[in-house]
Amino acid sequence: MAHRVRITETIFRDAHQSLWATRMTTEDMLAIAEQIAEIGYHSLEAWGGATFDSCLRFLKEDPWVRLRRLKAVIKKTPLQMLLRGQNILGYKHYPDDVVREFCLRAVDNGISIIRIFDALNDVRNMETAIKVSKEAGAHAQGTISYTISPVHDIDSYVKLAKDLKELGSDSICIKDMAGLLMPYVAEELVKRLKAEVGLPVQLHCHYTSGMASMTYLKAIEAGADVVDTALSALAMGTSQPPTESLVAALQGTPYDTGLDLAAIEPINQHYKEVSAKYQSLDSPRKVDAAVLSYQIPGGMISNLINQLKAQNALDRYDEVLAEVPRTRAELGYPPLVTPTSQMVGTQSVLNVLTGKRYSVVPKEIKDYVRGYYGRPPAEIDPDVKKLIIGDEEPITYRPADDLSPRLDEARKELLAKGYEYYQQEEDVLSYILFPEPALEYFKYRAGK
Ligand code: CO
Repeated sequence: MAHRVRITETIFRDAHQSLWATRMTTEDMLAIAEQIAEIGYHSLEAWGGATFDSCLRFLKEDPWVRLRRLKAVIKKTPLQMLLRGQNILGYKHYPDDVVREFCLRAVDNGISIIRIFDALNDVRNMETAIKVSKEAGAHAQGTISYTISPVHDIDSYVKLAKDLKELGSDSICIKDMAGLLMPYVAEELVKRLKAEVGLPVQLHCHYTSGMASMTYLKAIEAGADVVDTALSALAMGTSQPPTESLVAALQGTPYDTGLDLAAIEPINQHYKEVSAKYQSLDSPRKVDAAVLSYQIPGGMISNLINQLKAQNALDRYDEVLAEVPRTRAELGYPPLVTPTSQMVGTQSVLNVLTGKRYSVVPKEIKDYVRGYYGRPPAEIDPDVKKLIIGDEEPITYRPADDLSPRLDEARKELLAKGYEYYQQEEDVLSYILFPEPALEYFKYRAGK
């Protein structure tokens, strides 16, 4: 069982997405990128997730330029991204031509490993992305979005991993976005995946509940090949376990990561200094034991609080926390991850604030119940289904089969707007994914 463990560093993506509202600038990455490239990480998670949207919307940066600039400096360490399957980096399904073009362009601009997940673990929503990523020459990592419910057990995850392998995945990621994966469950799950699926296994845990380091250790002993960590300046809380602690813990053992703590130290020091700039955004790095009861990922908790604040109803927070698991159960136990976390969260807030459950239902939840997001893990409560879509029958085919190609049409729309809106082919993808922020950004880029 003894083997070297490799590490994916998340400081450029998930760590600041979890702790600093995804606001780390490209300059703050480039300042130290050369040294990071020398550490010997398995990969550097540096793109995708919410970073794309955040670049355009908040930072007035071009996410494609960020990727190219990072790649120009970081040559040895593979750059990794997180992709929401058919949702790409957005919050709804996109047609296959867009998924295809996006994956090809991502690889073309410097991505080597694409981690592909679907909020419902519906493989039909990951199929195109996995196939195209491989075709582009990238490593396609199929993902298990880990959650706990009466319909999610080890058998179901092993089956999912087999399906992901069947589609061509090069490795399997266990994505524990809420920090729910218990050490001994991880041990069993990893053992079974290694024995029955036969692909490399990577763990991605959030520290939210305080268990992630213990979970990693048991998973490593069970054969996990790679784990995701963040430099201690941006670790713990809703982020990943600290890199340095894991490196130290495994030193001199058969699992030794081979990474040099002395080389890591100055990079971490840089981020400790940079932290001052992001202080107003920084999330508290404490253990949130409530996660263990409510199974709500960190990002979702801050979302709920913001929604309640906006309604002047922060005093209803405890009621909403109790409503989330109930709503989730009625909706067929979707794992709580983007976009289902936002959807279930919003519905729960509405259920509490209106005083009449499901009297107000957002379009996204209606579409979810109609099957447009994919197959829910369990049957939706028939009464709730009736309240939401009446007698309408949900679709049973792959949701993206309904979507007509969008690429050519979007390109024409951009071209019609003028030169400043179309300076590179990638602009079309930014525009399709985030039309308003992209157009705003293009105007800004043109100095208008
Ligand atoms: Co994450």
